This record gives sequence, C-alpha cells and structure tokens, in this order.
Amino acid sequence: MCGIVGYIGEKQAKPILNEGLLRLEYRGYDSAGIATIEKDGIKNIKNKGRVNALFEVNGIDALQGTVGIAHTRWATHGKPCSVNSHPHMDNSKTFAVVHNGIIENYADLRDFLKSRHYEFFSETDTEVIPNLIHYYYNHSDNTTSSTSEKKFLQAVTDACKMLKGSYAIAVLCSDYPDNMIVVRQDSPLVIGKGNKENYISSDIPAILPFTKEFYFLNDKEFALLTKESIMFYDENLQTIQKKIHTITWDSGSVEKDGYPDFMLKEIFEQPKSVKATIGNKFQKSKTMIGDLNLSKAYLSSINKIFIVACGTAMHAGLAGKNLLENLCQIPSEVDVASEFRYRDPIINNQTLCIFISQSGETADTIAALKLAKAKGSKTIAISNVIGSSITREADYTIYTYAGPEIAVASTKAYTSQITLLAILAIYFAEILEIHQDKIEELKTDIQLLPKKIETILKNTSQIENFAKKIHKEKDIFFIGRGIDETVALEGSLKLKEISYIHSEAYPSGELKHGPIALVENGITVVSIMTNRLLLEKSISNVQEVVTRGAKTFIITNQDMNYDFDEVIMIPKTNTLISPILSVIPLQLLAYYIAKEKNLDVDKPRNLAKSVTVE
Ligand code: G6P
Repeated sequence: MCGIVGYIGEKQAKPILNEGLLRLEYRGYDSAGIATIEKDGIKNIKNKGRVNALFEVNGIDALQGTVGIAHTRWATHGKPCSVNSHPHMDNSKTFAVVHNGIIENYADLRDFLKSRHYEFFSETDTEVIPNLIHYYYNHSDNTTSSTSEKKFLQAVTDACKMLKGSYAIAVLCSDYPDNMIVVRQDSPLVIGKGNKENYISSDIPAILPFTKEFYFLNDKEFALLTKESIMFYDENLQTIQKKIHTITWDSGSVEKDGYPDFMLKEIFEQPKSVKATIGNKFQKSKTMIGDLNLSKAYLSSINKIFIVACGTAMHAGLAGKNLLENLCQIPSEVDVASEFRYRDPIINNQTLCIFISQSGETADTIAALKLAKAKGSKTIAISNVIGSSITREADYTIYTYAGPEIAVASTKAYTSQITLLAILAIYFAEILEIHQDKIEELKTDIQLLPKKIETILKNTSQIENFAKKIHKEKDIFFIGRGIDETVALEGSLKLKEISYIHSEAYPSGELKHGPIALVENGITVVSIMTNRLLLEKSISNVQEVVTRGAKTFIITNQDMNYDFDEVIMIPKTNTLISPILSVIPLQLLAYYIAKEKNLDVDKPRNLAKSVTVE
C-alpha cells in the first residue's frame, strides 16, 4: 500500500518518477506527489487523485532536478487530499520524505515535537518523520563532521530509532543535494543500480525498464545514495556489504503489450506462467523444487500442515490443502493470515507452515510467518517476487514463475500457486513413498495444463455475451462442492473486487441452509461442477435454484443433458488440479462484467495490490 519511487542521476528526475509512479499506482491511487532538488531548494508538488492528475498541476513543468522522490498514496491516516499527500516536509523545508507504512507512535512523536515548537499541517502519521529528522539534525549531540553527508545520515538513523511501526522511507535534504537516504522496517523497498544513476522503489516492476540490477534491504538497513555510489549501513552506522541480484524478468512484462488492461493480459499469460512454474521440476528420478531439501524422517514427523495467506493466495491454499491431504495424508488447515496471528494456533516442531504471497510483502502473512517460526515450526514461503520480504524470513522459499502481476485482482498468480502446491505435494509424497501410481498420472496432467488453458482462452465470446446479459445485477451466487467450492470462493472474490457486484460463494449443499432464501426470479447462480463423483448431487442443487427462477452459468468438464442457461465446457483434468482450469472462465466473467460497467479493472476502488499494513 502506497508506492514510493526515487531517482538520483544525471537525467531529469521528473519523467522517470512519473513513469515509476504510473507503474506503482496499483499500490494506491488516491493522491500523489513529487519532490525534486532544484537550484533554490526542494520543490514539492502534490495533488489529490490519480498520478495523471499530479502531472497536470501548474508548476510541475518547472521541475528540472536530477534528484527526486515521489509517492502514490493509499490513505490510512488522513483523508485523501493534497495536504495529506506525500512528500511531507519539515517546518524548515530542509527535508522531504516519502513513506509507505504506518508510524504507530505518531501521536506521541507529534506531542514531543509540538512541545519543541514544531507545527503540523496534515492529518498524517508521516509528517512527524521529516520534523524528527530535522530535530536530530539540529539538536542531537551529533559528533559527526557537520560538512559530511554522514550528518544527514546520522539524523535519519537517530529519527528512525524513535519510530514504532512499519516504514519504507526515502529522504532528501536540501543541504546535501547529491544524496538520498532510504531505510526500511517491515515495508518493502528495493534499490536499483544504474550507470551513473540509481533508483529506489517499493517494488521491482516500477523501475524494471531502467535497470535489472537490484539490492534488497533488510529491516533497519540504511542506504546512502549518490548518482555513482550506494553505501549500506546498519542503524549504528557501521557499513555493511550487500549482494547485488540480477532480475531476469523481461521489461516488456510490465507493459500492456497491446491488451486493453493488465488483467486481461495476465489472464491470457496463464499458459506461459503455469508452464514456467512447472519448469523442469519433474526430473526422471525425482521431483526437485529449487533447493528445497526435506528428509523422509522430517516429513514423517509432521502431524499438521498450516497454509496461511490472504485474499486470492489463501484461495490457492484451499486447493493446496486438498492436494496435501490427498497425496501425503497429512492433515492440513488453511488460515487467513490476519486471523492466524491472533488465534494462538497450536504450532510446534511437528507442524509445517506454508505461507503463500504473490508479492511477498503482505504484512499479515509476514507477521504470521514470524509467529510460526518463533513457535518452532519450519516455514516454507511461496512467492512470485525474488528477494521479497517473505523470502528473507522463511526457512525455505519456493517460487512461482508467473512474471510480474500488475492488475490488482490476482489471476495468473493464483493458477501458478496451485501448480506449485501440486508439485510440492508430489515432492512430499515421493519422499514419503506413498501414492506412487496417483503421482505419475498427476504429473502428466500437470504438464498438460498449459495446453488446456490455451483451449479455454480460445473461446471467450460465450462468457463475454453472458457478462453483457448480467452486468446490471446486484447479487450473484457462486456454488460448488469439494474442490469446486474453493473455486467458487475465488470467482466470487474476482467479481466483487472489480465489478462491485455483491456476491456470495457457498458449498452447493449448504445453500438450502440459508442462502436459498435470497434466490428469486432472475438471480444468477454460477455453479462449478468438475468432479464426476459429485455431479448428480451438484446438478440437484442447481435444479433447486432453477426451480426458484435463477439463471444459471455452469462451468463443467462433464457431459450433461440439462437445459441450463449457459454451460461452459472446459477440458477434463485430475480433480485435484481442476481449479487451475475452472477458475479461468470465472476470471473472464468478472473481467467482462467490469468492462461492461466501464470500470477500471486494473485499479478497483479502495483496493491495493500489495497490502503492507495490517
Ligand atoms: C491484496 C490483493 C489481492 C491479493 C492479496 C494477497 O488483497 O488485492 O489480489 O490476493 O492482497 O496478496 P499477496 O501478495 O500476499 O499474495
């Protein structure tokens, strides 16, 4: 939530920051701002609304500086308006700060500063940061030479020692126009190295067109940037060495590539992303997943697996539970990260915890992982982003290879996550030496998935036409049994997220215990039926709603002789991995409904791609 980007180099900063902000907009988009170092000090321009509105503000064309920071906001403290937008400056206008995160003790810090005659103009938690830096810059018994940029660094580290909460911040100081300082604590930040120029950003895609060389900061690590150098320090100002990582993502992957929206592009990328995630993990002798190396003794000792995640990643976890229980016979539970943390889960060294996060930056998922580790569990992170925070906390990380996912509503990450969970379950089962026959068939089915996804994507007109018919509806139901219910949940979430239509997902058999009271003439019920063994029962449940006047949209891989309104046939596959296919018509249905309603599918209201606050 909130995106920050910065540039220090020889080029004009503004166009680079503009491009970076546009790429970061999926992290928040209620207001934006930019500060650059000009000949006569720091110039700070901000505006309510989307990034494009910022670049229409009078005076923005005058920004010529080659050092700058910028921010796109998802409001937490203080309503979206120009004054509350970042960058925030101290009273003397010496420091400008962009911040992603929440300063939990901001009220105390405000009082501390107010009692020392600092004034506050915004309702934000962030405004304490530049003022606190200013306070230490002028008042601490700073022994560092007053001419060295270390004085600037010392003031920032002193101020950060006072902050409680989460932050990724970038700071400019008009006294040191050739420097920028960044630091992080529980909020994402990456540093991109260029040739006589350097970049900072909340995530890799925002600056991928400019560089592929990245440094990842750990908590409480500071970086002092010039156009030619990047020095790293701990909070005691001891220098530290950091490894540089080369990112292999293609910079074209952050472009729309002729598609009208990132979401549609990402839906159509699924044959590729699933294929890349399978990679060459199925080796002749055994399944290999990165450097995951678990022993038979360890896996045999596990009596419970927790899968913990948020949003769509949690829905992928539901499919993972089925896979792990079915193939490995280990009881598995799926938890929403924000609940898991506070329910005192029973964890010990016989539990294995798997955390799924596309971005690897979701605050609740990371906190849940830290809790599991502290209680003695081994932890595996499943992430799509190399070097993301979660990957640095977990005992083991395994990656999906979906490529950058930009649209707020997750699509290709979900199918890649289930693919990887299926491979993980196979990996465990092989080590445990169970279900060898099932496993071989499943491996073949997994490898056939990319082609089958392509088949579904070849015929979208039926879904598009149905979307046209129902786009004005107020409520839509999604039902399914077994694994199909997990897909119903994801289909319902996609619809809510981008079309703002209220929807509910229910196990088909549970409908008559309440929700059927809401089914009336003309309401749409989407039913997923991919399990041969549950088909008759599922059909009966659909008949129950048809009798009450519902319109039906069926997604199935089974032949059926019933006169339902719309039946989308998808290829057959192993039931355990069927969500990877059955979700695709649901993603498209949500997409076409939102388009029909003329909504911004990539940036739905109030949502952010990466939820870095609790
Ligand atoms: C937000 C996004 C969802 C995503 C969820 C978890 O709610 O809008 O698309 O599924 O966060 O994100 P993660 O990066 O942890 O998978």
